[in-house]
Amino acid sequence: MTTATAQRLVIRGGRPLRGRVAVSGSKNAALYALAAALLTAEPVTLRNVPEIADIGEMAEVLRDLGAAVSIDGATVSIEARELTKTVADAERVAALRASFLVMGPLLARLGEAACPPPGGDVIGSRPLDVHFAGFKALGAAVTREGAAYVARSPRLRGTRIFFDYPSVLGTVNVIFAATLAEGTTTIINAAAEPEVEMACDLLNAMGARITDGGNNTVHIEGVERLHGADFSIIPDRIEAGTYLLMGVATLGDVEVVGAVPEHLDSLVAKLREMSVRVDPFEGGLRVRPDGPLQAVQLQAVPYPGFATDLHSPMGAALTQAHGVSVIHERVYDNRMNYVGELRSMGARITTAGQSVMIEGPSALVGTAVRAHDVRAGAAVVIAGLCAEGETVIRDIGHIDRGYADLDVRLQALGADVSRR
Ligand code: EPU
Repeated sequence: MTTATAQRLVIRGGRPLRGRVAVSGSKNAALYALAAALLTAEPVTLRNVPEIADIGEMAEVLRDLGAAVSIDGATVSIEARELTKTVADAERVAALRASFLVMGPLLARLGEAACPPPGGDVIGSRPLDVHFAGFKALGAAVTREGAAYVARSPRLRGTRIFFDYPSVLGTVNVIFAATLAEGTTTIINAAAEPEVEMACDLLNAMGARITDGGNNTVHIEGVERLHGADFSIIPDRIEAGTYLLMGVATLGDVEVVGAVPEHLDSLVAKLREMSVRVDPFEGGLRVRPDGPLQAVQLQAVPYPGFATDLHSPMGAALTQAHGVSVIHERVYDNRMNYVGELRSMGARITTAGQSVMIEGPSALVGTAVRAHDVRAGAAVVIAGLCAEGETVIRDIGHIDRGYADLDVRLQALGADVSRR
């Protein structure tokens, strides 16, 4: 039997991508939405959910806790009428990091939650202290029992909480817990990513009272209970950004339907600095280089800064830009494993501490490479699209986690890509 991980993606590069591609719903936002559904006993229907393996994994985590979950294409229905367990299953949780988001809802609804350390991409140390500080501030006792982290509180109470770091999952988890707490919670230095904002919109559609206080501050007025909702997931800005970068790197002309300009300001600003024409159209963004690509410098930081998830795809695109580009990674301490793969394809790319230096343009050559994680995978795909000859990418299960039907969508843009 051929498994997804045994497959290879084979790219014959050198063709400018042209045409229109539509992105799926946001992977991360959809995962938060599935977890949010645990906060109510009523049915929650989610639409525009991406058809990727992570959604099935998260559904398993929820089912194990007693929720009924059905997946029908891009529509996912969850009914957590009764939660039968307070402990998330270790094996399932190891499959994806977002599974730790069951903590907030379990704690809020049952007064107790336990979860082993979650899995996820190996992109640096990924602590959970922000989650715990938030739960503790709401009145929970947090302990480590065996392999699992446990949080307990008979009644959560709203308070003012300062986050040391605007952790994305930490913000969502603590907001989940605070929706059913007594009184009002204010989070200072909360994450402001569009996926967090969407999670708040979904919770409000379920009857929560969450308001944006500006300046990375969120107010959550606790309510007695939440109800069901029918909600559509926002487009995936990272998938959109990746297709824009594919168009740019191949010196093509690509329209990305679902690229929301307000979610991609930091990328658009850098693309324009690179001499790329970026034009909004109804429902998306169009990119086409306006002369030779120029080198740029950037820092990957929390939103609205340049997204760390677009660091490696951008690194790959910058191999085609004239001059020396520098990317300084300020979110993760190990997001550089795409660098060695690009180097093996002929890129002049080096690292120093948390910085990546790229000298371009480089004539890349196809070879055998690896997708180390979902975004490092996107980077080698971009390099493969630019390279002469055949690029064979292994471990593409990582790529499939974030990019539904990547090969099919690239073929429609004129790329020579196949699965073997
Ligand atoms: N951090 C802390 N304390 C914490 C949590 C995080 O110091 O309690 C630090 C981490 O060490 C890291 C930084 O904060 O340096 C970022 O971590 P964050 O918690 O914000 O990331 P996350 O919530 O675990 C989500 C996405 C990631 C994305 C980041 C940043 C999901 C499932 N994951 O992770 O997505 O890179 O936010 O935007 O939503 C991806 O899709 O490729 C991906 C890795």
